[in-house]
Amino acid sequence: MQIRILIADDHRLFRDGLRTLLTAHKDMAVVGETTDGADTVSAAAELKPDVVLMDVSMPGLNGIEATRKIISRGGATKVIMLSMHSDRRFVAESLDLPLSKVFGVATFYHLFMLKPKGRHACVVCTGTACYIKGAGALIEDIEGRYGINPGETTADDALSVLTARCVGACGLAPAVVLDRDVLGKVTSDDLLERLAEIAV
Ligand code: FES
Repeated sequence: MQIRILIADDHRLFRDGLRTLLTAHKDMAVVGETTDGADTVSAAAELKPDVVLMDVSMPGLNGIEATRKIISRGGATKVIMLSMHSDRRFVAESLDLPLSKVFGVATFYHLFMLKPKGRHACVVCTGTACYIKGAGALIEDIEGRYGINPGETTADDALSVLTARCVGACGLAPAVVLDRDVLGKVTSDDLLERLAEIAV
């Protein structure tokens, strides 16, 4: 069964990009596109999508108000908010939660960053299997080369280093996820070479 998606965003380029990405998956179908909050509320009532991808900043009724209206009507439609806003107050308002709660979640999970990420992300697994096999040394060597610790980004925004508890590749420990590639049995030399290849 396909997931029926309504895209709500006032930027055509962004809508086109999302549509191309989503329609590449045969289990997803884009059933409509809207460019402002009021139209999105009407389209959600008419089309009954499974998911609305909702831009927060839209003309007229914004994404937060439109989401409240859609949810207040009941129904099974879920809303995923999309935004370039990094201000945590914006997130808190979108989720209808106190700022302290948003901050607590954002600082609890290692993969959530409070600052914008670099162009490349290097996630070093520090789960038990990877730690035993030398993940700590990988982190030290990245720090030695780039001067950044987990959770930090280089000054030129090229590279962010993160850690994860287990990336599901324990048989390949130590494992690193570099952008979307999972690297297994990684040595410091391998990793620094790969990082140099992606021009960081
Ligand atoms: S502990 Fe590293 S992949 Fe599982």
